Amino acid sequence: MRILRFLRSSVSVGKNIDYYSKFSPSPLSMKQFLDFGSENACEKTSFTFLRHELPVRLANIMKEINLLPDNLLRTPSVRLVQGWYMQSLQEILEFKEKNAGDDKVTYDFTEAVIRIRNRHNDVIPTMAQGVVEYKETHGTDPVVSQNVQYFLDRFYMSRISIRMLLNQHTLLFGVNVKVNPAHPKQIGSIDPNCCVSDDAALTNVTPMKMHGTSATVQPVTVVYVPSHLYHMVFELFKNAMRATMELYGDAMEYPPIHAQVALGTEDLTVKVSDRGGGVPLRKIDRLFTYTYSTAPRPSSDGARAAPLAGYGHGLPISRLYARYFQGDLKLYSLEGYGTDAVIYIRALSTESIERLPVYNKSAWKHYKTIQEADDWCVPSKEPKDMTTFRSF
Ligand SMILES: Nc1ncnc2c1ncn2[C@@H]1O[C@H](COP(=O)(O)OP(=O)(O)OP(=O)(O)O)[C@@H](O)[C@H]1O
Ligand SMILES: [Mg+2]
Repeated sequence: MRILRFLRSSVSVGKNIDYYSKFSPSPLSMKQFLDFGSENACEKTSFTFLRHELPVRLANIMKEINLLPDNLLRTPSVRLVQGWYMQSLQEILEFKEKNAGDDKVTYDFTEAVIRIRNRHNDVIPTMAQGVVEYKETHGTDPVVSQNVQYFLDRFYMSRISIRMLLNQHTLLFGVNVKVNPAHPKQIGSIDPNCCVSDDAALTNVTPMKMHGTSATVQPVTVVYVPSHLYHMVFELFKNAMRATMELYGDAMEYPPIHAQVALGTEDLTVKVSDRGGGVPLRKIDRLFTYTYSTAPRPSSDGARAAPLAGYGHGLPISRLYARYFQGDLKLYSLEGYGTDAVIYIRALSTESIERLPVYNKSAWKHYKTIQEADDWCVPSKEPKDMTTFRSF
């Protein structure tokens, strides 16, 4: 009986995933988030938008989960994550036919939104664990690695966006919402005057020096989500400090880490510079893959206080935060000296628009392409026969 009920509900979830994945997600601009919160914050409007938009964003990415290699899909961790997504989709769809004018309905919806947000708290370490399990049992090949990288970038970006929507709704309409006394003007999770120069100085661990450019004697502010900025800057400092400490070991003095903030007409840029020895150019792209880290692997027993540390997710996830509102994150390194890590943020709130993955034929093709021969020559170390050159 229970099996029958389970089968029936999986079929109906499947149908809903098919249905909602045919819609494209609707990217919102920072300005829209802000206008909605400040002028006409209406729970009913938010409810009607979210009860459609959340299933669309969930279904689009659930379609892509299904395209992962079978053996990865079968790992307990990935199954767990998939189960969370199905459960959450079902919970939102229960509000499909409900009356948006009924206070009880909107109240229940906000409760469901909070429940969903909490359910998905551990998606990143769980997914990371799934990838580790898969690699340990099945090894890896370049095609799988490329697909997993492509998928995780889109999956985590989708998650960032869904959490942004969930957070805005609960922070604006949840019952226990209190105004943050430090930031009374904050609209949900967005600060219309997010002081980047303050945030970039968030780490009071020495050695560190903070610089404004000559044009930025005054504090630099932008419309942004402080927690996203905090995440990126924190990860960059963590990396810079580790590189510095590893290079200098037990030395009594360490070269400082510099942070610089600049505001132009298009970009707001934050640069974190260290003298931790740098990384060769050949390896730079690799640092943004989800499976690369030179740190010891974290234990999976949850004994460590800091989750994620050492999964190698610091840079790729920080880059997603930057890209989420149309910015970017890049690393420029001088091997033998040190590294500049640069965060680019859009200076104008009208240009900060959500960057969202959409499931379509192009996305599907990414998972289905087979590896073809390189269209650039692979250099051999020594020309085989120098006489060939003479005959030209
Ligand atoms: N500033 C830097 N200088 C030298 N190497 C760096 C620097 N930043 C990153 N790296 C190298 O890039 C790797 C990947 O960095 P990333 O932040 O993505 O992961 P991690 O620091 O290893 O682990 P996590 O950030 O998840 O705790 C690091 O292990 C390190 O080898
Ligand atoms: Mg790191």
